Amino acid sequence: MASDGRRRRRLPLSLRRNAVAWERQRPTWRDAKPALIAGALKRAQARPSGNWYVVGASRDVGGDRPLGRTVAGQEVVVWRDTGGRVVAGPGVCPHLGAPLRDSPVRCGTLVCHWHGLSLNGGPFAGWEPFPAHDDGVLVWVRLDAVGGEEPLDAPVVPRRPVPTRALSAVYAGAGVCEPEDVVANRLDPWHGAWFHPYSFVDLTVADTPESAGEDAFAVDVSFKVAGRLVVPVRAVFTAPEPRTVVMHIAEGEGVGSVVETHATPLGPDASGRPRTAVIEAVVAASDRRGFALARAAAPVLRPLVRAASGRLWRDDLAYAERRWALRSTGRFPGA
Ligand code: FES
Ligand SMILES: [Fe+2]
Repeated sequence: MASDGRRRRRLPLSLRRNAVAWERQRPTWRDAKPALIAGALKRAQARPSGNWYVVGASRDVGGDRPLGRTVAGQEVVVWRDTGGRVVAGPGVCPHLGAPLRDSPVRCGTLVCHWHGLSLNGGPFAGWEPFPAHDDGVLVWVRLDAVGGEEPLDAPVVPRRPVPTRALSAVYAGAGVCEPEDVVANRLDPWHGAWFHPYSFVDLTVADTPESAGEDAFAVDVSFKVAGRLVVPVRAVFTAPEPRTVVMHIAEGEGVGSVVETHATPLGPDASGRPRTAVIEAVVAASDRRGFALARAAAPVLRPLVRAASGRLWRDDLAYAERRWALRSTGRFPGA
């Protein structure tokens, strides 16, 4: 594998010869054993999260409006105090219940737009802050009443490339499903080249938690760039906590880059069905010269990365929603 990896690093872009038509690629369903995916999901769910939930992108917190999010039915507002520190708390004004997500932030203070009650992030008039954490890419809030686990001082943040040499983008979407449906989708790497042929080709699952010593899926896959141009990589998928699946690029172009998928329960919709947010952070790294230019062009690239991610997630959310729809009616074949 090492020599193969070296070859890949010299030639990041490959021209796909002997391209196999979509319908003629090897079926993966025999390898994608429902029990194997269910086992990986169960182990992920057993890991501690310390009651931390991803609520959004760090760069979306700041400015003159708080970030408002409902997590498991609990309204939450997040903003930055005068020192730039992220603070969070309930999104219901303690006076007469105004939705604080619609209130402005003035000089680090959230000012209720109904009668002017001011919150600086500390406890006030019955309003109690929630612990908040800014990891530089994502903002997390700790909700002990929702999570019900032993609280942890900080969330389980995946290992990432050094920020100064990385480009990050965050995509957020939502669907009718539970966090476990999002995680189960990510723990099924076999669907990649079948379900997303516009992005992935030549996919082989090289290691599963059964074959490898660690609880990870290793996948050899090529990202489609344009036409027959592809970037072959080895990607390793792990679930460090119950609502996160991380893909590390272990070999090939962008080695060290990560794509983190975080599932945050939002609460029921009008029909009582669960809704879940998918917040995906792409933290791309490269030691190639061109990448310094790519970083400088970050404001332009970011929407592109997000759009690519958005296309994948439209399909993956459909997968997660389908899984929930079948599960909730006792029709899921992988149960
Ligand atoms: S409801 Fe917020 S100050 Fe009255
Ligand atoms: Fe997918």
